[in-house]
Amino acid sequence: MRIGILNSGGDCPGLNAVIHGVVGAASEKGWEVIGFRDGFEGLLPPGDFKFLTRADTSGILKLGGTILGTTNKGNFAAKIGAGDVAKVPQEIVDRAKKTLDQLEIGALIVVGGDGSLTTGHQLFQDGWPIIGVPKTIDNDLEATAMTFGFDSAVTSVVDGLDRLHTTASSHKRVMVLEVMGRHAGWIALWGGMAGGANVVLIPEIDFDIQKVAEFIRLREAQGHHSSLIVVAEGAKLPDGLVARENEHGGEVRLGGVGAVVANQIQEMTGKETRACTLGHLQRGGAPTALDRILGLRFGVMAVKLASEGNFGRMVSYQSYHVDSVPIIDAVQKIRCVDPTGEVVDAARAIGICFGDC
Ligand code: F6P
Repeated sequence: MRIGILNSGGDCPGLNAVIHGVVGAASEKGWEVIGFRDGFEGLLPPGDFKFLTRADTSGILKLGGTILGTTNKGNFAAKIGAGDVAKVPQEIVDRAKKTLDQLEIGALIVVGGDGSLTTGHQLFQDGWPIIGVPKTIDNDLEATAMTFGFDSAVTSVVDGLDRLHTTASSHKRVMVLEVMGRHAGWIALWGGMAGGANVVLIPEIDFDIQKVAEFIRLREAQGHHSSLIVVAEGAKLPDGLVARENEHGGEVRLGGVGAVVANQIQEMTGKETRACTLGHLQRGGAPTALDRILGLRFGVMAVKLASEGNFGRMVSYQSYHVDSVPIIDAVQKIRCVDPTGEVVDAARAIGICFGDC
């Protein structure tokens, strides 16, 4: 048996752990593993790939990014713009399939987020032996309780907030930290709670900037002269998202809402307010232990599915177990924060403001 693996979409801490898990489990079975470079693009003839052995994956658990390279643009991008689904042209699919056939690959493990898994599902419907592995720092994939990369991203937010806390309190300032979270506010919510933020603004809860300003003024009156605000890049202002076209192609690029919020808060409260964008610091760097373990277990389960010929399925984490679900279950909608759920309730219970009341 020979299997293939590729990473597609934005990079994410823990991708190398998945590769390590796949190569380790496949090697134990005496299988060969081929890694395709730069996502599905590596499948296009003449093919850009390499055989992966245990020696190639030794020491990669601690590395951020992916040793295979990845892309969220190109010939196989399934989601462009704000959630529009574009099918991969059949001519591209057929060309890529030739590489798969020539290399006699019995299973192709696709490690990706909703866009890449949407492509994976299309290829499965076209007869490819696809197995999906969920990946996104945003943690917004349906049908899995957690994706690897999320814990590492949250850890970066907490580290950022810890640093901002000391400078904010020294200068009696309001500090706004903009974090990733295109459609879902998981990173802002978990990071904000664990990092001691006073205000958390997420895409799922419409906020009123006047209410945020009121909250900051109240804190001031109560003797709290500094405040921390975490805002997800996808949080909506009354006139919409702060975004711009991506001149390099692909999805609309978000970013800038933190600066807008900071300016408005400064104007409304008179308090010096500064914005800071964490950006790709959340995506790079070494994965946490949790993300390494998740990645390894996901890789092992992907090989198990391959050995069972269980194609069209995605590895999934549910109730402390790694299992699998049909890929289609994961890509039909985004898994968002429940505004009336237990985590938001817990945040409200400790006094965190979401700008809605
Ligand atoms: O989907 C993961 C993510 O990190 C989003 O939170 C963010 O909007 C996007 O990727 C950024 O992608 P890029 O690095 O291509 O700008």
